[in-house]
Order: sequence, then structure tokens, then C-alpha cells
Amino acid sequence: PRKIILDVDPGHDDAIAILLAANSPEIDLLGITTVAGNQILEKTTLNAQRICSAAGINAPIAKGMDRPIVRQQIIADDIHGNSGLDGPAFSKPTVDVIPQHAVNFIIETIIKSDGDITLVPTGPLTNIAMALLLEPKIRDKIQEIIFMGGAYGIGNTTPGAEFNIFADPEAAKIVLNSGLPLTMVGLDLTHQATATPDVIERIKSIGTPLANIVVELLEFFGQTYFEVFGFPAPPVHDPCTVAKLIDPDVFTTRHLYVDVDIKSELNYGRTVCDFYGVMGRQPNCHVAIDLNKERFWNLIIEAIKRY
Ligand code: BDR
Ligand code: CA
Repeated sequence: PRKIILDVDPGHDDAIAILLAANSPEIDLLGITTVAGNQILEKTTLNAQRICSAAGINAPIAKGMDRPIVRQQIIADDIHGNSGLDGPAFSKPTVDVIPQHAVNFIIETIIKSDGDITLVPTGPLTNIAMALLLEPKIRDKIQEIIFMGGAYGIGNTTPGAEFNIFADPEAAKIVLNSGLPLTMVGLDLTHQATATPDVIERIKSIGTPLANIVVELLEFFGQTYFEVFGFPAPPVHDPCTVAKLIDPDVFTTRHLYVDVDIKSELNYGRTVCDFYGVMGRQPNCHVAIDLNKERFWNLIIEAIKRY
């Protein structure tokens, strides 16, 4: 199985990414690290504990950065609610966080490894950038980074920028310029992963308490996505990253030069993807293009069934 560290800001779709990663035989989930993003760090961390407790997931949870590196903090409570994971009623978590800071957990786990760990960030890239800055030796030992964030087309937080990147553009700059093997799973891809009524029906029919939690998550997420963006069904962004590691054919990619704008006023936080190679730069990032929806939802539904 692929060894991964999942770096999250749960978040409805982050929660589903956790469920997929923790119960797929192709994935060895070494740890869950939390970051401020959809909500403040206290809440995203509590939400990681909540979903792990509800699902019986025992992976270590380490709490990370509570703010972006340079910019003022933003959150996405319009989409994820006041708790960051509104919808289902969760009981008090039964799993704790480890005492180690997420950035140190990432560094230590990678240094101890055989160079076979993939980092899977599905929130702002603050923890990943901080780990790269604090211990440059990990560069040679990270297998790859596959992150949810950015877009080659339109943004969702500003016209040009996607939330995870806009929430910490300077961190994204560090990651995109790291020279590491990168895959960017942006909105262009994740907006194809919408939880349509037939998908919700399939999950409902599983009938387990955990499946019901997922349905309640998707119903809340669907409501806010309708109110804020007018989407008929909510895009379940974050698990697309994990799905790619389970099934390499779940989406196509193009190898492109990608950087992030950290200077512009209108396009601050925009991921600029050079499709035509007009900049003459070496490609540094595999950019997600086309999703095989059937394969994607089958992976999610099979994982939920295994709980
Ligand atoms: C991303 O932002 C968050 O709201 C979601 O969890 C996802 O990671 C989508 O732009
Ligand atoms: Ca997220």
C-alpha cells in the first residue's frame, strides 16, 4: 500500500477524504495532520477527532499551524458552517491528538522512512511549507505531494483563486517551487466530483450509522453550495487526491509549469498553469484534468461500506 500523511482542515470533503484513506487497502494512512483553513485550527482539529471517533479510525492526529505564513487568516464558514463540519450531530470524540506538532510529526515520519511517503494536503499548504522550511533534508525523502487546491480556470474564493491556495498563497509558492514531484488537484477536476442525488441515494442505502453521517454531511454541503454558488450538487473536492493514489486511472493529468501569483491584487493566490508552454519553463506539476466519475464514486462508496 501507498504510505501517506493526510494534511486536512475538516471540512466536509476533508472528512470524506479521511474516510477514504483510512479504509482503502491500497493506502497506509500513517497520520492525519490538521491545519487552519475551513475553520480555525481548534475546530478543524476537533473535527478530525470527531470523524475518526465516529468511524473508529486510529491513525495518529497531530495538530498543526493555526495561521497562514504571511497573509491574514481567512475561513470558509459560509460553506462548512460554524463548527467547520456542520450537519451531523457528533458525540464527544474518543480519540485524542498526539502531543507532537504536525510539522514535527511530518518531518520525523519522513526522516525515519525509506523515502516512500506521499504527502496529501487537502487544506492550505501551511504545514507542508513549514516542514520544508524547517527541515530541508525531507526534500530528498518525500516520494511526492498530491494536493487539492488551485485551478487553471476560475476560482471559488476570488474570481482567480481557489480557497486552499488563497488561504495561504506564500505556502503554496514554497511547495510549487520545491522541485518535488507534484500533482495539483484543482477545481477544474473537483467540480466534476459532484455528489448528485443518485450518489447520495447509493450512500443512504448502505444504511450504517457512518453512511448516515456521510449523507448528513453531503446534505449540509449541498445546501451551502447551492446558496453560495448556485451548484445543483456539491463538489466533493478533497477525496479526489486519495482516489488518484488508489486508482491512477481515476483522472487524467497534464504535466505543466505551474506557479502561484503572490503579488497581484486581482489574482493574488491564483495558480497560473502554462498549458501552451509559452513561458518556456520546465513542467513542475501534474495538473488534474478529467475525472472518471464512476470509478471515483465506486471507490468512495466501497470505502464507506467497509466501516
Ligand atoms: C477546498 O476548500 C475547502 O473549503 C474544501 O475543503 C476544499 O479543500 C475547495 O476549494
Ligand atoms: Ca479541505
